[in-house]
Amino acid sequence: MAAPLLLVVFLLVLFLSSSAAQMPGFISLDCGGTDEYTDDIGLEWTPDSNIIHGQTASISIPGESRKQYMKVRYFPADSSKYCYTLSVKSRTRYLVRATFLYGNFDRSNVYPKFDIFLGATYWSTIVISDAATIEVQELVLLTSSPTVSVCLSNASTGQPFISTLELRQFNGSLYYTIYETQFFLKLSARINFGAESTDSVRFPDDPFDRIWESDAKRRANYLVDVAPGTERVSTTMPIDVSTFEMPPEKVMQTAVVGQNGSLTYRLDLDGFPGYGWAFSYFAEIEELSPNETRKFKLVVPGMPAYSKPTVNVQENAQGKYRLYEPGYTNVSLPFVFSFGFKKTNDSSRGPILNALEIYVYLQINYGSQDAIVMASLVSHYPLSDWAQEGGDPCLPASWSWVQCSTDPQPRIISIFLSGKNLTGDIPTELSKLAGLVEIHLDGNSLTGLIPDFSRSVNLNKIHLENNELTGPLPSYLANLPSLKELYVQNNHLIGVIPKGLLNKNIILNYSGNKGLHKESKDLYHVIIIVFSVLGACLFLLSIIICCLFLRKTRKNLPKDDVPNVQPAQKLGTFFSEVSAETAHRYTLSEIEDATGKFERRIGSGGFGIVYYGKMVDGKEIAVKVLTNDSYQGIREFLNEVTLLSRIHHRNLVTFLGYSQQDGRNILVYEFMQNGTLKEHLRGPLAHERNLGWINRLEIAEDAAKGIEYLHTGCFPTIIHRDLKSSNILLDKHMRAKVADFGLSKPAVDGSHISSIVRGTVGYLDPEYYTSQQLTEKSDVYSFGVILLELISGQEPISSESFGLNCRNIVAWAKSHVESGNIEAIIDPSLRDDYNVQSVWKIAEISIMCVNPHGSQRPSITEVLKEIQGAIEVERGSRLGGDHTMGPQSKNSTDHSMNSNAGELATPEQNVTFPEFFLGPGLR
Ligand SMILES: *[C@@H]1O[C@H](CO)[C@@H](O)[C@H](O)[C@H]1NC(C)=O
Ligand SMILES: *[C@@H]1O[C@H](CO)[C@@H](O)[C@H](O)[C@H]1NC(C)=O
Ligand SMILES: *[C@@H]1O[C@H](CO)[C@@H](O)[C@H](O)[C@H]1NC(C)=O
Ligand SMILES: *[C@@H]1O[C@H](CO)[C@@H](O)[C@H](O)[C@H]1NC(C)=O
Ligand SMILES: *[C@@H]1O[C@H](CO)[C@@H](O)[C@H](O)[C@H]1NC(C)=O
Ligand SMILES: *[C@@H]1O[C@H](CO)[C@@H](O)[C@H](O)[C@H]1NC(C)=O
Ligand SMILES: *[C@@H]1O[C@H](CO)[C@@H](O)[C@H](O)[C@H]1NC(C)=O
Repeated sequence: MAAPLLLVVFLLVLFLSSSAAQMPGFISLDCGGTDEYTDDIGLEWTPDSNIIHGQTASISIPGESRKQYMKVRYFPADSSKYCYTLSVKSRTRYLVRATFLYGNFDRSNVYPKFDIFLGATYWSTIVISDAATIEVQELVLLTSSPTVSVCLSNASTGQPFISTLELRQFNGSLYYTIYETQFFLKLSARINFGAESTDSVRFPDDPFDRIWESDAKRRANYLVDVAPGTERVSTTMPIDVSTFEMPPEKVMQTAVVGQNGSLTYRLDLDGFPGYGWAFSYFAEIEELSPNETRKFKLVVPGMPAYSKPTVNVQENAQGKYRLYEPGYTNVSLPFVFSFGFKKTNDSSRGPILNALEIYVYLQINYGSQDAIVMASLVSHYPLSDWAQEGGDPCLPASWSWVQCSTDPQPRIISIFLSGKNLTGDIPTELSKLAGLVEIHLDGNSLTGLIPDFSRSVNLNKIHLENNELTGPLPSYLANLPSLKELYVQNNHLIGVIPKGLLNKNIILNYSGNKGLHKESKDLYHVIIIVFSVLGACLFLLSIIICCLFLRKTRKNLPKDDVPNVQPAQKLGTFFSEVSAETAHRYTLSEIEDATGKFERRIGSGGFGIVYYGKMVDGKEIAVKVLTNDSYQGIREFLNEVTLLSRIHHRNLVTFLGYSQQDGRNILVYEFMQNGTLKEHLRGPLAHERNLGWINRLEIAEDAAKGIEYLHTGCFPTIIHRDLKSSNILLDKHMRAKVADFGLSKPAVDGSHISSIVRGTVGYLDPEYYTSQQLTEKSDVYSFGVILLELISGQEPISSESFGLNCRNIVAWAKSHVESGNIEAIIDPSLRDDYNVQSVWKIAEISIMCVNPHGSQRPSITEVLKEIQGAIEVERGSRLGGDHTMGPQSKNSTDHSMNSNAGELATPEQNVTFPEFFLGPGLR
């Protein structure tokens, strides 16, 4: 008897460990299959015969030679559910894929239609419309328990069947969303554009075995309305795909390009209309000459808001052959989806598209309120069929031996476990089912005491007869308000029957219990009573302990008392664990080691103090410890971290990760060796390392590109709100990056004008200050002030420099520029080493930027164009020696460039630590 059972356990273990051997976390079930094998692409298939009942059938489809598609497993078309339960790692993201190839397995040519469920959550209705086409359903989920169940049920036509069931474990931040505890992601489209054949790309090209469908595959309503001029391009160059979703290199090596300026497509999105997760993948795989650009916008007919962000693939990905992955984490999409990409007017190349993924959000149904208790109950009976039905006890159909209420989150109301050969104590789980009305445990070999069912106040019928139960008949039974029938005959119960049970209108059968009596009459019975009282005391004690324990667990439950919504139980730890995968999470001790316990303070500001750090591998970092009141809660902080980690641009300081421990919120950024622009203009460095005009123009161009990305490349648009020369940082090559973006919470400290208006005196848009209406034009104002600083080297506010009448750089510069006297504002340290036309260009645009009315200020894109124009003029006058550019171009030799180059060659010489994220206010 025991030997075959052991063998089954052994096989189960073997099955699980063998599937873990190939790729960690891959399970590939050949449903209906009979043996284990490895297929052509290296996937190890295992039969499902050890884990599920049901019949199998062989099928044969011409042209389909894969072994897993030669058999199916099918189930009766009844009202039950048929579930596969697979072991997984808890709190891990998985791809679950189920495939269905009908192949007329039942020789009836009735195309089946049935539902599939992931646990209690409706996943999809499988509608077979062709005997030879494989139906594929995919879901991405975050596991909340050590098992995942896939159930087939509710056949409305034919018999439910399945061909394969595949689980692929994800790592890193793949498909992390902030909704993942409430929603699964159900795949709607995953398309490889420019594919070289109609074949899909999957394992081993994709180490996670996602299936990337070829855009060359023809089928109805799939990628139609293709724009003329759409061409396929490909490369064999390696591609850096280390973004969030890590798509396979092979998919990124092909793309479509809209040679005539546009790409357009239309396709039907299964599962929509609804809210979804939609991301596109772009990598520059063509050789562009340096003067060429590829800039484009998404176009969705009727949705102009989507056309705001501009994609500049190389800038966003920070180079060629690198991936950029923009998208929408929650977007409303229709069933018939038309979209396109259109090049911008100033782009020389048409749009490119390498791949696309769209998932629909599927609300998770956490199922019966008693699911966790029931899962624990059945885990005691690994060898009993009734305990292997799998899935939720109530949804979509209840287990054969339970009955459930009809609530949206059902409760167990009846248990039928008569004559199931149960041994040992009555499982304590049964006493936790608060909705229980009927319980049938008769005809088993149960031993021990009758447990405390007093929580189940609706209990109406209790069948415990024909077991080996001992101890007294507990007195609470007399107080169960709904109890009508109690059967305890033929056990070994002792003691006195509680009075209430005899007085009330209750059917009680207690015959066949030699020690059970109506009342005490003699010494013998007194002794029995003493013993039973003692027993009852012990019992009470255990109840008290039990109650204390229950109360303790209840404290952790959400207030709506839904014990099985596991993820909600420990929100804090849960979210921090998950987000850790999105952005890199540093431990506090790592940060302490890197910073020498926060030794070198290199800046401070509205959000906190910045320290210098050096990692074990030598990488330098800037560590910002946020002030405690910056965030209301851990979740808010982690949401912001998630957003920050999605912002990528060459001209924005790179966010490396975060640390969240002991109530401290810490952000980690790349360290910028050459400090802030402010220091180079006016700090101790200004004299030694005088920035030439061309360097200043390049810094302005870099910063404008970073701001342009915040304004046009992100959705929703990010407004910086605190642009200033101390937030423009310089790397070791003196290239500029913008810092301190993306943090939305204003800090409440004295240096701010108010806790609502964020910004720094001298840079603050006066219109924003008065109206408190924030737009991108407020950043343009601040940037105008920075341009004036670059021209003049002056501080934004100073009564010394500008006189009492002006006091600020804007009024001062304006008065001089308007009277045509630009020399009066040019930084004397530039020593005439500039082309005055180029300075004029910058002066004019900066005066436009600081226009009092936001609507009359240029956009950052227009400002960027003017800066690039000024750079051209400046370079032209230097290289070409074109003296017609103006009298000030007399130094148009390479002299100044050489001297600048000399400075650039020894950047370490004057390394200081940047005033990273300098606080607002005057210093
Ligand atoms: C079963 O399927 C039918 C038809 O597809 C559908 O109307 C019904 O709601 C489904 N029942 C359940 C319990 O899902
Ligand atoms: C994630 O999986 C990929 C592919 O299997 C592997 O190369 C990578 O090292 C893994 N990353 C982590 C963080 O485990
Ligand atoms: C692309 O545009 C050019 C010029 O506008 C036109 O001559 C050509 O026919 C277009 N190509 C296609 C395929 O439409
Ligand atoms: C997405 O946005 C909509 C509308 O703002 C909201 O109702 C929904 O809960 C969000 N999340 C998901 C996963 O749908
Ligand atoms: C880019 O430069 C090449 C020469 O390097 C020139 O032939 C071409 O016309 C330029 N293209 C644009 C768009 O300026
Ligand atoms: C781009 O060009 C089109 C047609 O020439 C024009 O209508 C549109 O306003 C231009 N867009 C921009 C942003 O300049
Ligand atoms: C209970 O066990 C006996 C023998 O141990 C066996 O003959 C019988 O079939 C079992 N009944 C059930 C319902 O498993």
